[in-house]
Amino acid sequence: MKTALYPGTFDPITNGHLDILERALGLFDKVIVTVANNSSKSPLFSGDERVALIQEIIDERQYANATVVRFDGLLVNFARKNSACALIRGLRAISDFEFEFQMALMNRNQAPEIATVFLMPHERYTYLNSSIVRELARLNGDYKEFIPASVYKKMTTLFPTTL
Ligand code: COA
Repeated sequence: MKTALYPGTFDPITNGHLDILERALGLFDKVIVTVANNSSKSPLFSGDERVALIQEIIDERQYANATVVRFDGLLVNFARKNSACALIRGLRAISDFEFEFQMALMNRNQAPEIATVFLMPHERYTYLNSSIVRELARLNGDYKEFIPASVYKKMTTLFPTTL
C-alpha cells in the first residue's frame, strides 16, 4: 500500500492542482491532499473552507483513493504519521524549481525515507496559480475555465461577477 501526500495551500484549488492530483492517483494506492495553513500567506478561504471545497470535488469526481485533511506543523512529521512514502509537488515552469529544490532537499534531510515526486501538469495550466485566480475574481475577470464549477460558485459568493 503506497501512500502519498499532496501538500499545498490550495487557496483555492485549481484545475492545475486537480491535474496533478489525478496523475498522482494513477501512481499511488492512496493520495492524501494535505491543506496547509501556511503562515506566510493570508488565505482568502479558511482551512476548513478549503478542505470542504476539495472534499466536494473528491465526492463529485468519485476519486476513490483520495482523501483531504488539514494540517499544521512539519510536513514530514505528518507524512510519517500517515505512513506516506512520497510527497507530490507540481512543477509548472523553471521558476518553480528553485523553491521546490530547496524544499525537497530539506524534507529529505529531515526524512530521508520519504521521496519528493515532481509531476508536470498539462501545458494549459503552466501559467496558472491561485493568486491569479483570486485577482481575476476580485477585478471581475473571466476565470471560470481555471477552477472547478463548485469552486467558481463559492468564489462568486465573495466576488459577484457581472460577466
Ligand atoms: N496548478 C496551479 N497552481 C499551482 C499548481 C498547479 N498544478 N501547483 C502549484 N500551484 C500554485 C499554487 O496555487 C500557489 O499559488 P499562490 O502562491 O498564488 O497561492 C503556488 O503555486 C504554490 O503553492 P502550493 O503548491 O500550494 O504550495 P505552497 O507553496 O503554498 O505550500 C507547503 C507549501 C505548504 C507544501 C510548505 O510550505 C510546507 O510543507 N509547509 C509545512 C511546514 C514545513 O514542513 N516546512 C518545511 C518545508 S522544507
